[in-house]
Amino acid sequence: MSDRILERLRAAWSRSDEIFDLVGSDALHERPISLRHPFVFYLGHLPAFGWNQVVRGLLGREGFQPLFDDLFERGIDPLEESASGAAGEQAWPPVTEILAYRDRVRDELCAALPAVRARSSQDVMAAGDRVYHVVLEHELMHHETLLYMLQQRGGALRGADAARPAWAAVAASRAGPEADTSAARPGAVAIPAGTASLGADFDAQPFGWDNEFPTQQVPVPGFSIDALPVTNARYAAFVADGGYADARLWPDGADEARRRLGLEQPHFWSRRDGQTFVRTLQGDVPWDQSASWPVSVSWIEARAFALWEGRRLPTEAEYHRAAYGTPEGTTRRWPWGDEPPAAQHGNFGMRRGAPVPVGSHPAGASAFGVHELVGNGWEWTSTRFGPLPGFDAYMPHYPGYSADFFDERHYVMLGASWATDAGLVRRSLRNWFQDRYPYVFTKFRCVD
Ligand code: AVJ
Ligand code: FE
Repeated sequence: MSDRILERLRAAWSRSDEIFDLVGSDALHERPISLRHPFVFYLGHLPAFGWNQVVRGLLGREGFQPLFDDLFERGIDPLEESASGAAGEQAWPPVTEILAYRDRVRDELCAALPAVRARSSQDVMAAGDRVYHVVLEHELMHHETLLYMLQQRGGALRGADAARPAWAAVAASRAGPEADTSAARPGAVAIPAGTASLGADFDAQPFGWDNEFPTQQVPVPGFSIDALPVTNARYAAFVADGGYADARLWPDGADEARRRLGLEQPHFWSRRDGQTFVRTLQGDVPWDQSASWPVSVSWIEARAFALWEGRRLPTEAEYHRAAYGTPEGTTRRWPWGDEPPAAQHGNFGMRRGAPVPVGSHPAGASAFGVHELVGNGWEWTSTRFGPLPGFDAYMPHYPGYSADFFDERHYVMLGASWATDAGLVRRSLRNWFQDRYPYVFTKFRCVD
């Protein structure tokens, strides 16, 4: 059956296959992030999730491989350093069996579409193919999981450059003459007091996760925000100034965490021969190329930098004002306007496997002239991940998608990274991670 949602799903599956090719069979059982499962878990998780949502959940059918449906059902949240062992050594089924399971599930998911559609009048997950959007977006999000695990793993990617997909083969580009490799603060943009429109209307968009609904209007006092995210170069001044050793910049238990983790500089920096390198998927990139990229750090490190500057991280509502608000008081669909996300708007959509110098996408600037809010790294906010007022865990077979993470430890990240599919670039999408999780493709900027 040919159908737009199935076409998108098939494209996502090819991308998954491409990423697992980059991992390679040798590394499949490696677990580069000790609090996540090894790569091989995801080989089974992606189909198991689709099966459990569509065929088992919505259609209520028996499984053909119920052990796999359960074994691969859920990943683990890296809750605590102390939770290590949660993902303890485990025997995984033979890869050939997982691949056979995957292929059968993919066929069954395509075949199930008419049966799902037959229920659209009585099942909210069937209406508008919602359950297929769940499966599609879950797959796309885990592309990013796999890529940051692969980056964490380090070492050469499998296969010769020429054999790799274009985005993985591109050597990190050299910063152009316009790229700012100095530690100077960029200009700040004054955002007048106004209203931020968070969330979305359930019936007004084809799909959204539970945490995106309903809409919420938030009054935001005037503030001033960096026009560009903080670069590696700017962050290096903070490191050189002893920022990691100044306990005042690491409040609320962060200093203790910093010590325990032995943090002295960003997780992906390394120093050799008097030079700093920044790790990417393709390997370590020398400072002359990476200094002008946004720095990728955990939330506690971003906050420490902001405190060092005597400033703070933007709230979720402030990010929305800066990104989607306009001087006229209207709300834009994307920072740049109504044009669907495209290459000129930002570094997202897996077109290249690394950040680019900040300010490389002026066409993506917001109405207020704030650059790069979408793309080149998920942007940290100071807002704890929580429900919008009126939140409803509307997915009957996935009630914990968000609710399991409404705690004191997860913070909202917005926008997109280079590894975020363009299909996920929408105003209401919210991402979240723990405040000391260093692996994700992030960035940040400061406000006052
Ligand atoms: C929303 C990206 C934080 O990666 O843990 C995937 C998405 N949830 N499988 C994650 C998710 C379950 C989630 N994030
Ligand atoms: Fe998952």
